[in-house]
Amino acid sequence: MADLDNIKETKKFSPDNPQNAQGFHVKGCSNYGWGMKTRLSNIFNPKSGRTLMLAFDHGYFLGPTSGLERIDLTIPPLAPYIDVFMGTRGALTACIEPGLLNGKAVALRCSSGSSILNDDLSHELVSVDINEAARLNASCMAVQVFIGSDGQKQSIENISKLIDTGNAAGIPTMGVVAVGKTMERTTKYFQLATRMIAEFGAQIVKCYYCDDFETVTAGCPVPIVIAGGKKLPEKDALDMCYNSLQRGAAGIDMGRNIFQSEAPVAMVRAVRSIVHDGITSDQAYEMYQDIRK
Ligand code: R5P
Repeated sequence: MADLDNIKETKKFSPDNPQNAQGFHVKGCSNYGWGMKTRLSNIFNPKSGRTLMLAFDHGYFLGPTSGLERIDLTIPPLAPYIDVFMGTRGALTACIEPGLLNGKAVALRCSSGSSILNDDLSHELVSVDINEAARLNASCMAVQVFIGSDGQKQSIENISKLIDTGNAAGIPTMGVVAVGKTMERTTKYFQLATRMIAEFGAQIVKCYYCDDFETVTAGCPVPIVIAGGKKLPEKDALDMCYNSLQRGAAGIDMGRNIFQSEAPVAMVRAVRSIVHDGITSDQAYEMYQDIRK
Protein backbone atom coordinates (compact mmCIF):
# COMPACT_ATOMS: atom_id res chain seq x y z
CA MET A 1 0.00 0.00 0.00
CA ALA A 2 1.20 3.51 -0.77
CA ASP A 3 2.87 5.25 2.14
CA LEU A 4 0.30 7.49 3.86
CA ASP A 5 2.99 9.39 5.78
CA ASN A 6 4.80 10.60 2.72
CA ILE A 7 2.14 11.99 0.38
CA LYS A 8 3.82 14.75 -1.56
CA GLU A 9 2.01 17.86 -2.70
CA THR A 10 0.51 17.31 -6.14
CA LYS A 11 1.57 19.91 -8.66
CA LYS A 12 2.23 18.34 -12.04
CA PHE A 13 -1.28 18.35 -13.53
CA SER A 14 -0.13 19.95 -16.81
CA PRO A 15 -3.62 21.23 -17.72
CA ASP A 16 -2.24 22.76 -20.93
CA ASN A 17 -1.19 19.34 -22.19
CA PRO A 18 -4.49 17.43 -22.60
CA GLN A 19 -4.67 13.67 -22.36
CA ASN A 20 -4.27 11.92 -25.72
CA ALA A 21 -7.76 11.34 -27.17
CA GLN A 22 -6.65 8.11 -28.93
CA GLY A 23 -9.14 8.63 -31.75
CA PHE A 24 -12.39 8.92 -29.78
CA HIS A 25 -14.05 12.18 -28.73
CA VAL A 26 -14.78 11.09 -25.17
CA LYS A 27 -11.73 11.34 -22.94
CA GLY A 28 -10.34 8.06 -21.68
CA CYS A 29 -12.98 5.97 -23.42
CA SER A 30 -11.27 4.93 -26.66
CA ASN A 31 -10.74 1.36 -25.50
CA TYR A 32 -14.40 0.45 -25.05
CA GLY A 33 -16.61 -1.51 -27.46
CA TRP A 34 -19.10 -0.32 -30.02
CA GLY A 35 -22.21 -0.32 -27.82
CA MET A 36 -20.54 1.67 -25.06
CA LYS A 37 -19.16 4.15 -27.59
CA THR A 38 -22.55 4.68 -29.26
CA ARG A 39 -24.08 5.49 -25.87
CA LEU A 40 -21.22 7.84 -25.00
CA SER A 41 -21.76 9.50 -28.39
CA ASN A 42 -25.44 9.98 -27.54
CA ILE A 43 -24.28 11.93 -24.50
CA PHE A 44 -21.21 13.79 -25.80
CA ASN A 45 -21.67 15.54 -29.12
CA PRO A 46 -18.95 14.25 -31.48
CA LYS A 47 -18.40 17.77 -32.90
CA SER A 48 -18.03 19.74 -29.67
CA GLY A 49 -17.09 16.78 -27.46
CA ARG A 50 -19.48 18.31 -24.94
CA THR A 51 -22.87 17.70 -23.38
CA LEU A 52 -25.70 19.54 -21.71
CA MET A 53 -27.58 17.38 -19.22
CA LEU A 54 -30.67 18.54 -17.39
CA ALA A 55 -30.77 17.11 -13.85
CA PHE A 56 -34.26 16.64 -12.44
CA ASP A 57 -33.61 13.67 -10.16
CA HIS A 58 -33.99 15.71 -6.96
CA GLY A 59 -37.32 14.16 -5.97
CA TYR A 60 -35.71 10.79 -5.24
CA PHE A 61 -34.71 12.05 -1.82
CA LEU A 62 -36.27 15.54 -1.56
CA GLY A 63 -39.82 14.89 -2.72
CA PRO A 64 -41.51 17.72 -4.65
CA THR A 65 -38.89 20.45 -4.57
CA SER A 66 -39.22 24.02 -5.87
CA GLY A 67 -39.48 24.06 -9.65
CA LEU A 68 -40.11 20.32 -9.81
CA GLU A 69 -43.56 20.22 -8.24
CA ARG A 70 -44.84 19.09 -11.66
CA ILE A 71 -42.16 17.41 -13.75
CA ASP A 72 -44.66 16.92 -16.58
CA LEU A 73 -45.07 20.71 -16.85
CA THR A 74 -41.50 21.87 -16.12
CA ILE A 75 -39.29 19.56 -18.15
CA PRO A 76 -40.89 19.14 -21.63
CA PRO A 77 -40.50 22.83 -22.65
CA LEU A 78 -36.76 22.54 -21.91
CA ALA A 79 -36.32 19.31 -23.86
CA PRO A 80 -35.46 20.80 -27.28
CA TYR A 81 -32.35 22.47 -25.84
CA ILE A 82 -30.75 19.65 -23.87
CA ASP A 83 -28.75 16.56 -24.84
CA VAL A 84 -29.50 14.36 -21.85
CA PHE A 85 -32.43 13.88 -19.46
CA MET A 86 -31.05 12.99 -16.02
CA GLY A 87 -33.85 11.56 -13.94
CA THR A 88 -35.23 8.66 -12.00
CA ARG A 89 -37.06 5.83 -13.74
CA GLY A 90 -40.31 6.86 -12.04
CA ALA A 91 -40.13 10.45 -13.23
CA LEU A 92 -39.02 9.50 -16.72
CA THR A 93 -41.66 6.87 -17.38
CA ALA A 94 -44.51 8.77 -15.72
CA CYS A 95 -43.81 12.31 -16.94
CA ILE A 96 -41.65 12.28 -20.10
CA GLU A 97 -43.19 11.25 -23.43
CA PRO A 98 -40.83 8.83 -25.22
CA GLY A 99 -41.07 10.98 -28.37
CA LEU A 100 -39.29 13.82 -26.54
CA LEU A 101 -36.23 11.55 -26.41
CA ASN A 102 -35.74 11.59 -30.17
CA GLY A 103 -32.01 12.20 -30.68
CA LYS A 104 -31.43 12.59 -26.94
CA ALA A 105 -30.06 10.45 -24.15
CA VAL A 106 -31.07 9.31 -20.68
CA ALA A 107 -28.81 9.43 -17.63
CA LEU A 108 -30.72 7.15 -15.32
CA ARG A 109 -30.45 7.69 -11.58
CA CYS A 110 -29.69 4.21 -10.25
CA SER A 111 -28.98 4.71 -6.56
CA SER A 112 -31.15 5.71 -3.62
CA GLY A 113 -31.54 4.76 0.02
CA SER A 114 -32.11 7.85 2.13
CA SER A 115 -34.30 10.94 2.30
CA ILE A 116 -34.18 14.44 3.74
CA LEU A 117 -35.65 12.92 6.89
CA ASN A 118 -32.26 11.27 7.57
CA ASP A 119 -29.27 13.17 8.94
CA ASP A 120 -26.80 11.03 7.04
CA LEU A 121 -27.63 10.69 3.35
CA SER A 122 -24.62 8.55 2.53
CA HIS A 123 -26.17 5.09 2.88
CA GLU A 124 -27.43 4.20 -0.56
CA LEU A 125 -27.97 1.04 -2.56
CA VAL A 126 -28.29 0.21 -6.23
CA SER A 127 -32.00 0.66 -6.82
CA VAL A 128 -32.29 -0.07 -10.55
CA ASP A 129 -31.38 -3.36 -12.18
CA ILE A 130 -29.19 -3.43 -15.32
CA ASN A 131 -32.04 -5.00 -17.35
CA GLU A 132 -34.29 -2.09 -16.41
CA ALA A 133 -31.56 0.37 -17.46
CA ALA A 134 -31.36 -1.39 -20.83
CA ARG A 135 -35.19 -1.46 -21.18
CA LEU A 136 -35.31 2.29 -20.51
CA ASN A 137 -32.62 2.82 -23.15
CA ALA A 138 -30.29 4.49 -20.65
CA SER A 139 -27.18 5.99 -22.18
CA CYS A 140 -25.60 5.95 -18.74
CA MET A 141 -26.41 4.99 -15.17
CA ALA A 142 -25.83 7.56 -12.44
CA VAL A 143 -24.79 6.67 -8.90
CA GLN A 144 -23.75 8.83 -5.97
CA VAL A 145 -20.36 8.18 -4.40
CA PHE A 146 -19.78 9.37 -0.83
CA ILE A 147 -16.01 9.58 -0.37
CA GLY A 148 -14.99 10.18 3.24
CA SER A 149 -18.46 9.61 4.70
CA ASP A 150 -19.99 6.76 6.72
CA GLY A 151 -21.48 5.28 3.56
CA GLN A 152 -18.22 5.32 1.58
CA LYS A 153 -17.70 1.55 1.37
CA GLN A 154 -21.34 0.94 0.54
CA SER A 155 -21.31 3.52 -2.22
CA ILE A 156 -18.08 2.09 -3.64
CA GLU A 157 -19.80 -1.30 -3.72
CA ASN A 158 -22.72 0.33 -5.53
CA ILE A 159 -20.63 1.98 -8.22
CA SER A 160 -18.51 -1.15 -8.65
CA LYS A 161 -21.63 -3.24 -9.20
CA LEU A 162 -23.01 -0.79 -11.74
CA ILE A 163 -19.70 -0.60 -13.59
CA ASP A 164 -19.37 -4.40 -13.72
CA THR A 165 -22.90 -4.91 -15.02
CA GLY A 166 -22.78 -1.75 -17.18
CA ASN A 167 -19.54 -2.77 -18.88
CA ALA A 168 -21.00 -6.20 -19.64
CA ALA A 169 -24.09 -4.56 -21.19
CA GLY A 170 -22.24 -1.70 -22.91
CA ILE A 171 -23.88 0.94 -20.68
CA PRO A 172 -21.61 3.63 -19.21
CA THR A 173 -21.69 4.59 -15.54
CA MET A 174 -21.58 8.16 -14.25
CA GLY A 175 -20.22 8.50 -10.72
CA VAL A 176 -21.62 11.54 -8.94
CA VAL A 177 -19.39 13.11 -6.29
CA ALA A 178 -21.70 13.57 -3.31
CA VAL A 179 -21.31 16.51 -0.99
CA GLY A 180 -23.25 16.33 2.25
CA LYS A 181 -23.67 18.82 5.08
CA THR A 182 -20.43 17.79 6.72
CA MET A 183 -18.48 16.85 3.62
CA GLU A 184 -15.72 18.93 2.18
CA ARG A 185 -16.04 21.07 -0.94
CA THR A 186 -12.37 21.84 -1.38
CA THR A 187 -10.28 21.45 -4.51
CA LYS A 188 -8.28 18.71 -2.77
CA TYR A 189 -11.47 16.82 -1.96
CA PHE A 190 -12.74 17.05 -5.53
CA GLN A 191 -9.34 15.95 -6.88
CA LEU A 192 -9.50 12.91 -4.63
CA ALA A 193 -13.13 11.96 -5.24
CA THR A 194 -13.12 12.42 -9.02
CA ARG A 195 -9.90 10.48 -9.44
CA MET A 196 -11.11 7.64 -7.24
CA ILE A 197 -14.37 7.38 -9.20
CA ALA A 198 -12.50 7.31 -12.51
CA GLU A 199 -10.15 4.63 -11.21
CA PHE A 200 -13.10 2.49 -10.10
CA GLY A 201 -13.91 2.48 -13.82
CA ALA A 202 -16.67 5.07 -14.25
CA GLN A 203 -16.78 6.44 -17.80
CA ILE A 204 -18.15 9.84 -16.65
CA VAL A 205 -17.75 11.78 -13.39
CA LYS A 206 -20.06 14.48 -12.10
CA CYS A 207 -18.59 17.00 -9.69
CA TYR A 208 -19.03 20.55 -8.39
CA TYR A 209 -17.01 23.47 -9.72
CA CYS A 210 -14.23 24.76 -7.44
CA ASP A 211 -11.06 26.86 -7.38
CA ASP A 212 -8.24 25.57 -9.58
CA PHE A 213 -10.77 23.40 -11.37
CA GLU A 214 -8.29 22.69 -14.17
CA THR A 215 -6.32 20.54 -11.71
CA VAL A 216 -9.46 18.49 -11.00
CA THR A 217 -10.22 17.91 -14.69
CA ALA A 218 -6.58 17.26 -15.60
CA GLY A 219 -6.17 14.72 -12.79
CA CYS A 220 -9.29 12.82 -13.83
CA PRO A 221 -8.72 10.56 -16.86
CA VAL A 222 -12.40 10.56 -17.96
CA PRO A 223 -14.77 13.46 -18.68
CA ILE A 224 -16.14 15.58 -15.86
CA VAL A 225 -19.53 17.28 -16.07
CA ILE A 226 -20.31 19.88 -13.47
CA ALA A 227 -23.31 19.96 -11.16
CA GLY A 228 -25.04 23.30 -10.81
CA GLY A 229 -25.74 23.35 -7.08
CA LYS A 230 -28.00 25.85 -5.35
CA LYS A 231 -29.77 28.48 -7.43
CA LEU A 232 -27.48 31.41 -8.20
CA PRO A 233 -28.23 34.70 -9.95
CA GLU A 234 -28.40 33.84 -13.67
CA LYS A 235 -25.19 35.68 -14.61
CA ASP A 236 -23.23 33.89 -11.87
CA ALA A 237 -24.53 30.52 -13.05
CA LEU A 238 -23.56 31.32 -16.63
CA ASP A 239 -20.09 32.40 -15.47
CA MET A 240 -19.71 29.09 -13.66
CA CYS A 241 -20.68 27.16 -16.80
CA TYR A 242 -18.26 29.11 -18.97
CA ASN A 243 -15.37 28.92 -16.50
CA SER A 244 -15.78 25.21 -15.90
CA LEU A 245 -15.66 24.45 -19.64
CA GLN A 246 -12.63 26.70 -20.07
CA ARG A 247 -10.99 24.70 -17.30
CA GLY A 248 -11.56 21.31 -18.84
CA ALA A 249 -15.12 20.26 -18.02
CA ALA A 250 -16.76 18.26 -20.81
CA GLY A 251 -20.25 19.40 -19.98
CA ILE A 252 -22.84 20.78 -17.64
CA ASP A 253 -25.36 18.72 -15.68
CA MET A 254 -27.51 21.41 -14.16
CA GLY A 255 -30.87 21.37 -12.45
CA ARG A 256 -31.98 24.14 -10.12
CA ASN A 257 -30.11 26.89 -11.95
CA ILE A 258 -32.24 26.08 -14.97
CA PHE A 259 -35.66 25.00 -13.73
CA GLN A 260 -35.70 27.48 -10.82
CA SER A 261 -34.66 30.36 -13.07
CA GLU A 262 -37.06 33.27 -13.61
CA ALA A 263 -37.05 32.21 -17.27
CA PRO A 264 -36.08 28.52 -17.58
CA VAL A 265 -36.26 28.34 -21.39
CA ALA A 266 -34.11 31.45 -21.80
CA MET A 267 -31.66 30.06 -19.27
CA VAL A 268 -31.34 26.61 -20.85
CA ARG A 269 -30.83 28.19 -24.28
CA ALA A 270 -28.10 30.47 -22.90
CA VAL A 271 -26.34 27.54 -21.22
CA ARG A 272 -26.63 25.50 -24.41
CA SER A 273 -24.91 28.21 -26.41
CA ILE A 274 -22.01 28.31 -23.97
CA VAL A 275 -21.67 24.52 -24.17
CA HIS A 276 -22.04 23.97 -27.91
CA ASP A 277 -21.61 27.32 -29.68
CA GLY A 278 -18.60 28.54 -27.73
CA ILE A 279 -20.05 31.90 -26.66
CA THR A 280 -18.85 33.67 -23.51
CA SER A 281 -20.93 34.05 -20.37
CA ASP A 282 -21.37 37.78 -21.10
CA GLN A 283 -22.82 36.93 -24.51
CA ALA A 284 -24.94 34.20 -22.95
CA TYR A 285 -26.33 36.60 -20.37
CA GLU A 286 -27.28 39.05 -23.13
CA MET A 287 -28.97 36.18 -24.92
CA TYR A 288 -30.81 35.21 -21.73
CA GLN A 289 -32.08 38.76 -21.29
CA ASP A 290 -33.17 39.05 -24.95
CA ILE A 291 -35.06 35.75 -24.92
CA ARG A 292 -36.84 36.40 -21.62
CA LYS A 293 -38.22 39.80 -22.80
C1 R5P B 1 -26.92 14.51 -7.30
O1 R5P B 1 -26.77 13.37 -7.02
C2 R5P B 1 -28.03 14.75 -8.19
O2 R5P B 1 -27.76 14.44 -9.50
C3 R5P B 1 -28.62 16.08 -7.98
O3 R5P B 1 -29.99 15.91 -7.84
C4 R5P B 1 -28.31 17.05 -9.04
O4 R5P B 1 -26.92 17.09 -9.28
C5 R5P B 1 -28.67 18.38 -8.63
O5 R5P B 1 -28.51 19.26 -9.68
P1 R5P B 1 -28.37 20.78 -9.32
O6 R5P B 1 -27.41 20.87 -8.19
O7 R5P B 1 -27.85 21.44 -10.55
O8 R5P B 1 -29.75 21.25 -8.96
